[in-house]
Amino acid sequence: MSQKNRTILVTSALPYANGPIHIGHMVEYIQTDIWARFQRLRGQHCTYVCADDAHGTPIMLRARQEGITPEALIAASALEHQADFAAFNISFDNYYSTHSDENRTLAAQVFERNQAGGHIASRTITQAYDAQENMFLPDRFIKGECPRCGAADQYGDNCEACGATYAPTELKNAVSAISGTTPVEKETEHLFFKLTDFEDLLKTWIKAGHLQTEVANKVEEWFEAGLQEWGISRDAPYFGFEIPGHPDKYFYVWMDAPIGYMASFKNLCDRNPELDFDQYWNSDSDTELYHFIGKDIINFHALFWPAMLKGANYRTPTAIFAHGFLTVDGQKMSKSRGTFINARAYLDHLNPEYLRYYFAAKLGSGVDDIDLNLEDFVLRVNSDLVGKVVNIASRCAGFINKRFSGQLSDQCTESGLYQAFVDEGDAIAGDYERREFGQAIRKIMALADRANQYIDANKPWVLAKEAGKEQMVQDVCSVGLNLFRVLMTYLQPVLPAMAADVETFLQLPAMTWDSIDTPLTGHTINKFKPLMTRVEQEKIDAMLEDSKDSLGTTTAAPGTAASGPSTTDPIAATISFEDFAKLDLRIARISKAAHVEGADKLLQLTLDIGGETRNVFAGIKSAYAPEALEGKLTVMVANLAPRKMRFGVSEGMVLAAGPGGSDLFVLHPDDGAEPGMRVK
Ligand code: MSP
Ligand code: ZN
Repeated sequence: MSQKNRTILVTSALPYANGPIHIGHMVEYIQTDIWARFQRLRGQHCTYVCADDAHGTPIMLRARQEGITPEALIAASALEHQADFAAFNISFDNYYSTHSDENRTLAAQVFERNQAGGHIASRTITQAYDAQENMFLPDRFIKGECPRCGAADQYGDNCEACGATYAPTELKNAVSAISGTTPVEKETEHLFFKLTDFEDLLKTWIKAGHLQTEVANKVEEWFEAGLQEWGISRDAPYFGFEIPGHPDKYFYVWMDAPIGYMASFKNLCDRNPELDFDQYWNSDSDTELYHFIGKDIINFHALFWPAMLKGANYRTPTAIFAHGFLTVDGQKMSKSRGTFINARAYLDHLNPEYLRYYFAAKLGSGVDDIDLNLEDFVLRVNSDLVGKVVNIASRCAGFINKRFSGQLSDQCTESGLYQAFVDEGDAIAGDYERREFGQAIRKIMALADRANQYIDANKPWVLAKEAGKEQMVQDVCSVGLNLFRVLMTYLQPVLPAMAADVETFLQLPAMTWDSIDTPLTGHTINKFKPLMTRVEQEKIDAMLEDSKDSLGTTTAAPGTAASGPSTTDPIAATISFEDFAKLDLRIARISKAAHVEGADKLLQLTLDIGGETRNVFAGIKSAYAPEALEGKLTVMVANLAPRKMRFGVSEGMVLAAGPGGSDLFVLHPDDGAEPGMRVK
């Protein structure tokens, strides 16, 4: 099965620098990482690079909104993203940024080569323009009423209410989402990549096995609809690279983003003399190049990217591997349900290897969505990893450690079981290679069942009590630990941290796929330490609670409105005075404050607004003990629609200001104000 000495470069899509990594993203980074680690375990030369995708209008506006430079924003994101990926044990050989010198140079070169080949056109088009902000508006920054169903507040490209797609000019009562003013039409000259020049070439390429069948079919549909020229320039102000020879025009973020794969690799090559950039990227390269992506970005990778590479005389990808989207408990991730789970919220409560295992068990080679069912997650991790795999080692290690000073038997004798485990390796490797991780896991767990049955049948704990059975105890436990070693070798791409602990426990050099050909005999092992603990439901609950708490603001929890930039909205649109006037702000006396069972951050407040009481949940537990609040005054939004939360209905919101944590101010001075008084 294994062809040795392959030279492979793999990538995951570059996450945008304007938001945190969430567990949906992690499907992709975990999938790629398992595949890359598998290749290395098999002795292939596999390099894995990635980067932050740092350019574009949302990043520019997000930085502006936070009052920092885009450079400062992307630097902060880069740190957060890399900390999250490191915690999930993603084994990047390099993690870089598209806002880099290497990328600037390569993007210019790819553009200029395509231009020299006649593949760039220039045309004047009419576009929506925000005359107050002096900028052209991308479709996503125009809002208005849907031309089909009339739903308010829809984006300029499609309606979330009825699913209609349209041009932003068709929106009724359109406004700029940035300034709130009505956009005007304005002419501007733009550059276009002539995708149509590559039509024949692409048609051949997509049929040549570089794409999954369902992806190739999708691309086929686009061909039938007719290829179009692709706009690759944007007007200033824009955060990106200025286009050589075109002052005040910038490369559209999706033009230089995939080139970021090359740039990250180039940056690695410049530090590592063993890697030769040209060997990997020249048009006649015999190395393998794979891009792991989500199904939402297929057009960029299966059409524009190979065409641009061809036009610039570079090699094209060996394959594009697209995956589906993550749902949680069968539904789209949702902020109100707390299932929009950031990587950090997960890491604060749970072992990253649980999720790596769960995703592996669910992943196949297709583009089907994958579901994280939290109940199933707990059951599966506990029964498979703790109950089956770790159990083998914990049942055998004690006897070997205590009775035989950690020494395994001189032979590994059983009726062919060890060899059966080794023989299954080719089929498991085939599954990994084809990205059928779920099938690999099923095979590995079937082996784990057999190992446990072997131990059950031979009962070392019974033998240990019988006279003259010492050798049998050592033999049975040595076989058990050898089987465990094979299983952990197969699981190493999925559970690298646990595998590293097993290397220490079994006193092994770094695992390789081939090293299991020979069992460990007469070998001394270390003391056994628990390798993995069970997933606890309380930890899941706490994670969901935290994920709900991050709603809307950086510091506040539901039930509290705090100052500070929004983490969810890419841009905070201004509201009119009429909108503001709708708020019914009242002085309220906190007649009762209590802890909420099972909530880390919430307090339950009973608010008296002059003859009427309201029940409100507020995320202010880090700042106030309940006793400190009772009898005091605060300001509340009295006409907020009631909201059903996990602990009950919240009937309003308490206003707070401050950086958060213990510095969160909610009290109103008791200076003669009366409950029920209007505040503005
Ligand atoms: N910046 C672009 C990619 C440029 S690649 C040259 C982008 N960034 S992203 O942050 O939105 O997404 C990064 C990757 O994560 C994409 O492949 C995307 O499909 C994937 N996912 C984002 N949300 C996801 C889920 N909910 N589920 C599975 N994958 C998801 O697109
Ligand atoms: Zn509509």
